[in-house]
Amino acid sequence: MKLNKSLIFTICCCFIFIKCKIIEEKQTKNSSFKSGKKWLDTNGDHINAHGGGIMFRDGVYYWFGEHKTEGRGGNTTLIGVRCYSSTDLYNWKNEGIALQVVENPDSEITKGAVIERPKVVFNKKNRKYVMWFHLELKDQGYNAARTGVAVSDFPTGPFKFLKSYRPNAGNWPINFKEEWKTETENTPVKWWTPEWYTYVKKGGFVRRDFESGQMSRDMTVFVDDNEKAYHIHSSEDNLTLHISELTDDYLDFTNKWITLAPAGNNEAPAIFKDKDTYFMITSGCTGWDPNAARSFKAKSIWGPWESLGNPSIGKDAELTFHSQSTYILPVEGKKNAFIFMADRWVPRNPIDGTYVWLPIKINNGKPILKWYDKWDLNFFN
Ligand code: GAL
Repeated sequence: MKLNKSLIFTICCCFIFIKCKIIEEKQTKNSSFKSGKKWLDTNGDHINAHGGGIMFRDGVYYWFGEHKTEGRGGNTTLIGVRCYSSTDLYNWKNEGIALQVVENPDSEITKGAVIERPKVVFNKKNRKYVMWFHLELKDQGYNAARTGVAVSDFPTGPFKFLKSYRPNAGNWPINFKEEWKTETENTPVKWWTPEWYTYVKKGGFVRRDFESGQMSRDMTVFVDDNEKAYHIHSSEDNLTLHISELTDDYLDFTNKWITLAPAGNNEAPAIFKDKDTYFMITSGCTGWDPNAARSFKAKSIWGPWESLGNPSIGKDAELTFHSQSTYILPVEGKKNAFIFMADRWVPRNPIDGTYVWLPIKINNGKPILKWYDKWDLNFFN
């Protein structure tokens, strides 16, 4: 009997010890970035903020991203946009759902719609947090191609959905030739032929969508030094990027916009400004599969944008290290310190998608991405 009691006591102790070890392991503080590995939040759960972006405010970084769920359907939005906060960029606290989908089937953000690539910016004038995102209406595949906007008084939300639409209806881009506006040529029946490329480059698709508004899929938002904000998105069936100025409250388009890299098939745009140069990193269009990134630079947001080719070097450079860009984060308090943020999508179980964060180096006026198994912010010292 005595033996049994001490045996039970020993088993209990072992059990408590193992349990404590597991909790301790899950809650270990992070002090580096390990791209492609599971990143645990401060509760020990894998971070669920895909296609995300980061906003910095009052000493805190807020990471907003798509909350994915399990299984093949996990890329449709069943929950919403999740937010995490951090003061060091390594350790993230789950702040809950910032923008929630709704049960009402008549709402544009009803459960089962697709909300992708949310980006939040702070409007200093109105002291509001503004979230823009790519929205696809429920059960319509990727046909709606809209941009959506939501607003909040607090960084972590709740964000109130305002509207979604195809932007720039009835307005020509400022880099559009006068003679293209009245061109009446029909769309070439066969895509990807030389005639078809010429047709797209001369604005055939911009004309097609002129009245109804331009398609808007993969997107980001960028706030310049002078507080002007820009919405950058894949348009014209993902063929051409559009850069559009937002109104002073960031809640609408001013209808001043340009096309960038017509027929270049760019998506997943991410942008940063180093001194007086704007740099953009994008991907090609292969859905959830990775491809080679591209890069561009310009002295003005309105171009001309110069193509710089693939920014990645080394092993797996042609697949962007098995990832796709989502955002470029300037590190607060450090000069010339930019983090390339990308997603490793897992379409068969989207919740398992991981994150690739790499430091950006500028070499001879070109952004360079190199793989590191493990790195930390001292890289920028
Ligand atoms: C990718 C895009 C993702 C998502 C996906 C759907 O090309 O970057 O954000 O839209 O396609 O297939």
